[in-house]
Amino acid sequence: MIITCTNCKTRYNISDSAIKKKEISARCAKCKHVFTVRKSVQSTPVRTVENEELPIKIDGISASDSNMKAKIISVCNQKGGVAKTTTSLNLGVSLSLLKKRVLIIDFDIQANLTTLLGYKDAKSFFEVIHSKDAGISEYIIKTKLNLWLLPSNSKMALLAKMHLQDENFEYLLRDKLKSIGHYFDYIIIDTPPSGDFYTLNALLASDMAVIPTPCEYLSMQGVNHIVNMINVIREKSGHVINYKIPITMFEPENTASKVILKKLKEEYKDRVFSTMIEKDTKVQESQIFHTPTIYYDKESRAGRQYYNLAKEIINL
Ligand SMILES: Nc1ncnc2c1ncn2[C@@H]1O[C@H](COP(=O)(O)OP(=O)(O)O)[C@@H](O)[C@H]1O
Ligand SMILES: [Mg+2]
Repeated sequence: MIITCTNCKTRYNISDSAIKKKEISARCAKCKHVFTVRKSVQSTPVRTVENEELPIKIDGISASDSNMKAKIISVCNQKGGVAKTTTSLNLGVSLSLLKKRVLIIDFDIQANLTTLLGYKDAKSFFEVIHSKDAGISEYIIKTKLNLWLLPSNSKMALLAKMHLQDENFEYLLRDKLKSIGHYFDYIIIDTPPSGDFYTLNALLASDMAVIPTPCEYLSMQGVNHIVNMINVIREKSGHVINYKIPITMFEPENTASKVILKKLKEEYKDRVFSTMIEKDTKVQESQIFHTPTIYYDKESRAGRQYYNLAKEIINL
């Protein structure tokens, strides 16, 4: 069974037979903290990293093609409607046009990204967690855009309800991604506007957070919430997440937009990307046709700006 140090969260795989009593004391080899291990509580039905080491079978990728180290990026903001899903998709597509191998994970219970890519009723991370005989790689779909997708579906809403009480519930996604990180250059995670279970899982799996915001007061507050979460994660677990902010749906002629932009730049300085994504009707049009903006109209302002944003990310 897997036991976890309650202080530094280091995990150990020990044989069940080593625990003879219902409850024993264990000392963490890393931080020396002494904690109690209970046989029944620590045995969790969720599959762990060790038995995730099933053969890797990713649609369209050969098992030997695994010399990469994915940069994992969460796209998050506590506020809805700030272009998280639009950014995840268009950034993913642009990185792929720049010859990067990209997996997008739809981690939002609304499954908007999955819908935009033309899928419905596909299996999601919920099934990954509850499958007994298939690894995460078998749930990844190769889309026709040279982009890979781990879809979402309505069952994703149950994930938080079923696992919020689990020990280490916040590492469910991180642990599952360990076995596939070598197959992609970038893994992009689209998150829901609320529900810390999902955002926390995404952030703890990530090297970087991209926090989109329009130049609008409440969205800026949403940025603040995520930055606070990132700081708490660093303090409590030592996990450092770089973050950057793309301005979305920018309206250069709007006075309020200009005031908020100035405030964002004062507060977050060079964490604000130089590339800004302007408000562009081509984004909404492209979504009606289930097509990323740059494919819908390669001259569209927003499509080109997302392409430039992808270049900025590659050059970080
Ligand atoms: N650059 C843009 N120009 C115009 N509309 C946009 C732009 N970016 C996003 N939108 C629209 O804003 C709405 C919210 O975007 P979405 O990506 O779903 O946000 P979120 O995932 O944060 O809830 C959608 O209707 C989308 O078409
Ligand atoms: Mg969304």
